[in-house]
Amino acid sequence: MMAFHEKQLPADAPIAAKAMNWIDARFPLTSTYKAHLSEYYAPKNFNFWYFFGSLAMLVLVIQIVTGIFLVMHYKPDAALAFASVEYIMRDVSWGWLVRYMHSTGASAFFIVVYMHMIRGLLYGSYRKPRELVWLFGVGIFLCLMAEAFMGYLLPWGQMSYWGAQVIVNLFGAIPFIGPDLSLWIRGDYVIGDATLNRFFSFHVIAVPLVLLGLVVAHIIALHEVGSNNPDGVEIKDKTDANGIPLDGIPFHPYYSIHDIMGVAVFLIVFSAIVFFAPEMGGYFLEYNNFVPADPLTTPLHIAPVWYFTPFYSILRAVTSEFVNYGLIPGVIAYVLLLLATAKNSKVKLAALVIGLVAVVGMIFLEAKFWGVVLMGASVMIMGGLPWLDKSKVKSIRYRPSWHKWVYLVFGIMFLVLGYLGVKPPSAIGGLISQVGTFVYFGFFMLMPWWSAMGTFKTVPDRVTFHPH
Ligand code: HEM
Repeated sequence: MMAFHEKQLPADAPIAAKAMNWIDARFPLTSTYKAHLSEYYAPKNFNFWYFFGSLAMLVLVIQIVTGIFLVMHYKPDAALAFASVEYIMRDVSWGWLVRYMHSTGASAFFIVVYMHMIRGLLYGSYRKPRELVWLFGVGIFLCLMAEAFMGYLLPWGQMSYWGAQVIVNLFGAIPFIGPDLSLWIRGDYVIGDATLNRFFSFHVIAVPLVLLGLVVAHIIALHEVGSNNPDGVEIKDKTDANGIPLDGIPFHPYYSIHDIMGVAVFLIVFSAIVFFAPEMGGYFLEYNNFVPADPLTTPLHIAPVWYFTPFYSILRAVTSEFVNYGLIPGVIAYVLLLLATAKNSKVKLAALVIGLVAVVGMIFLEAKFWGVVLMGASVMIMGGLPWLDKSKVKSIRYRPSWHKWVYLVFGIMFLVLGYLGVKPPSAIGGLISQVGTFVYFGFFMLMPWWSAMGTFKTVPDRVTFHPH
């Protein structure tokens, strides 16, 4: 058994010191505070992009607190749900504010997290030794998507109903088990009361629990290895005699204060939207969702909320022509590329087998299934980044200049896919989203080659920092 150590303080020590001493002997309060705040050394050159981690935490808290109050008045019952939301909006004191904060919070969450992920991409924050920080992040992103999707069913409006119907039906495209799987998910032959009840349960407790656990793991993993920075220089490599990074500053008070500025700006913008444009022109709250769910009337145009639309566009891009004239030749070309360039014979064999299975599958299985596969893969592939990126340096600052164009084209295509996903399908839109799908996957799949190409700049020994 471990010995119990309690420091002996002088009898006249302040009562607060005695209380802290009592706690520290029983719970690692001071040491945790030091390890994660006052003695967590973060690089001194953080910039604008580094606001979004703390903002994501803020939005997480907003969502949990407003969610708790919404649950007090919301009824998870197909006959009552829509009216209970209207009741919250009209009769519950401040209910409209709580509801609009929660609905705006959902979009804000995705804006903040997308910015946070872009930062990771720009500065190579997913690279060794931060692979797990990134993988926990991808897990968080998946949870957020599940959370937003299930939450959207709860108001039981037309878009809630038909959006869920479309997405759950997608599982039906999986060979053999598909139809039974979607029946199992819905708990009924159509979206119904059983679906609403289980989505409610997942939305209010199951997914948030996992999300919270992942956020804690994300921060623990980050603090184990230390933060990256816009230069991609490891500050732990240059320390003083006490082992403190020369380019590090204590997170508290420097960044705790700094982050308040980000929080202030965020809250101004957030409040402006909550008070003046909570529907955001139909992008944050779709107009069709102010109409109660009607299983007998399908809306003319069913579109997910904006944050899902890039992935939805990829789903819609996959037609049987796209499979025959785009995907199959694409897979064959990729396998040939691997066979020609891979050094490891196991990689070559795996490429050959996987490629063959994929091509045979593409010939025999319907395109809808491949749409679902590509949509899932478009999110999952982000988890591969730490191993796909073979660049000699982490940060975009020291990569060949033309790499910026690659990121730019990828970013623009992601936005275009997002834009097309909110629009009704059209011939030209379909074609552009097929090109976009190629660009999206090309960016990741060809990364092992393009990321290592070009003339790299010299990475400085120490971070670059210009005090302002
Ligand atoms: C609820 C959502 C999230 C929360 C609360 C959160 C929180 C944080 C915080 C507080 C930091 C440290 C401060 C900072 O570097 O900005 C951080 C760093 C990081 N996060 Fe997240 N995060 C979330 C989602 C994600 C997602 C979805 C990804 C990627 C898929 C991600 C990837 C990273 C990476 C790579 C770092 C290290 C960045 C660096 O050191 O340069 N995070 N996160």
